[in-house]
Amino acid sequence: MPIPSSLARLELALDERSTRPVYRQIADRIREAIEAGSLAPGLRLPPIRTLAAQMGVNRDTVAGAYEALAAEGLLESVVGRGTFVLGVAGGGPSEPVALELSERVERLLAIDGARPRIDHTSEALPMHSLIPDPALYPLAEFRRSLNRAIAKGGADLFEYGGAQGHPGLREELAEHFGRSGIAVSASEIVLCHGASQGISLALRLFAREDEAVAVELPTYQNVLATLAGLGIRALGVATSAAGPDLDALARVLAKPDVKAFYTIPTFHNPLGTTTSLENRRALLELAARHGKPVIEDAFEMDLRCSGRPMPPLAALDRHAVVVHLFSFSKALFPGARVGSITARGRAVEGLVALKHATDLSDSMPLQAAMAEFMHSGAYARHLGRMRRALRARHTAAQEALARHMPAGTKWTRPEGGYQIWVELPFEIDTRDLLTDAARAGVLFSPGSQFMPESGGSRGLRLTLARLGEDEIRTGIERLARCVEARRAAAGERRAPRGVNV
Ligand SMILES: Cc1ncc(COP(=O)(O)O)c(C=O)c1O
Repeated sequence: MPIPSSLARLELALDERSTRPVYRQIADRIREAIEAGSLAPGLRLPPIRTLAAQMGVNRDTVAGAYEALAAEGLLESVVGRGTFVLGVAGGGPSEPVALELSERVERLLAIDGARPRIDHTSEALPMHSLIPDPALYPLAEFRRSLNRAIAKGGADLFEYGGAQGHPGLREELAEHFGRSGIAVSASEIVLCHGASQGISLALRLFAREDEAVAVELPTYQNVLATLAGLGIRALGVATSAAGPDLDALARVLAKPDVKAFYTIPTFHNPLGTTTSLENRRALLELAARHGKPVIEDAFEMDLRCSGRPMPPLAALDRHAVVVHLFSFSKALFPGARVGSITARGRAVEGLVALKHATDLSDSMPLQAAMAEFMHSGAYARHLGRMRRALRARHTAAQEALARHMPAGTKWTRPEGGYQIWVELPFEIDTRDLLTDAARAGVLFSPGSQFMPESGGSRGLRLTLARLGEDEIRTGIERLARCVEARRAAAGERRAPRGVNV
């Protein structure tokens, strides 16, 4: 059979600047010709040797292209006879099928799409970021812990570890929590892939699609996304510096379809505030009266840098209604993805079953390393350094806010954690302010990000996770200039709504 003229006409032009391997380029051109119908089924392709000589490439290169196409079912090689076109399944050129995503994922995409796009490569000061400063990661000490963990654990450490997580780390955490007043045993702790997975497991433990969960208003944006992804409704409870509004909480918890209350009582995200002891006790009594669980997100509990320690809800819990979430992401680093959920009784069994059904288990080498890191005292030493750094940053931020922000601006005075909430004294959607601020060289998170409904907000969140004192001063000064400019443009109109801080 002669060389098909259609193949000769293709001439299989190669792009010399392409990083795609030559054999892949040859395969692409032949596939295109088959899909376009110019190489019909049954045609014989030129022998490898001939095509290689014609194109000035190695025979292996052409053989590789033919093999790749044979693997895709487009060609067939018959020993002693040659390589033949088989054709495309279904005939014509292949069109990607537009797969229909689930309704919940479409909602998630809408939430994601509404988030302000921040140019992370810009030089602007990242006062929106909640990722701790990599300069403070105790890498050398953690590496020693990992080495010790592997030396001790050996190959066992690299098997599936069991859904509840590494027993040694659970022991360490039980002791650690005990120092905050949470009386818990290792058997009541389930390790998980960061507090994020803890949130998802805890929500799934109590609520299903079309039911509802009470959340503070404002609240952590990703809990809103997790709820949307699970098809669970978020019911907002107004929250101020002292904590959630108890009357509003009572009304929401009384609804039969509300299955739990998710709260961040210590160094709230985004407010930075700590729920008062009185409010803590009252909300626990309320939850117990309504028989509803409280999901306590204690993601920054180890980051207190001033004031008196406040007992976690789990330490005050007389009715076993609290499910407590912990994370190493903010006090240490997020990349290890280690967090925990503490619960009681059947809730623990439920969490272990859910964790197993979700992903069998987490990374044992990392959990074992974390256990070593805690046991050796390295975590406690690291926390001392973090708290000192954080104290200096908060002092700088408070002074800069007082010095630069226009009169009437309110902000929170956190005793730890990274986030500060700022309320502007005039009508503005802080999403608009972000555009000015980014141009002026500072980033923040607009308040709308932390609300279940996508309305504007005159609040904004600043974070101190990645900046030293001088940068914090500079960032706040830049922000204040943008605020002043907007206020001058807006006149002195009063703002209709905001968070009472
Ligand atoms: C309130 C809150 N909970 C949980 C997390 C997530 O923590 P992790 O990295 O442990 O998943 C964050 C992260 O920013 C957070 O702000």
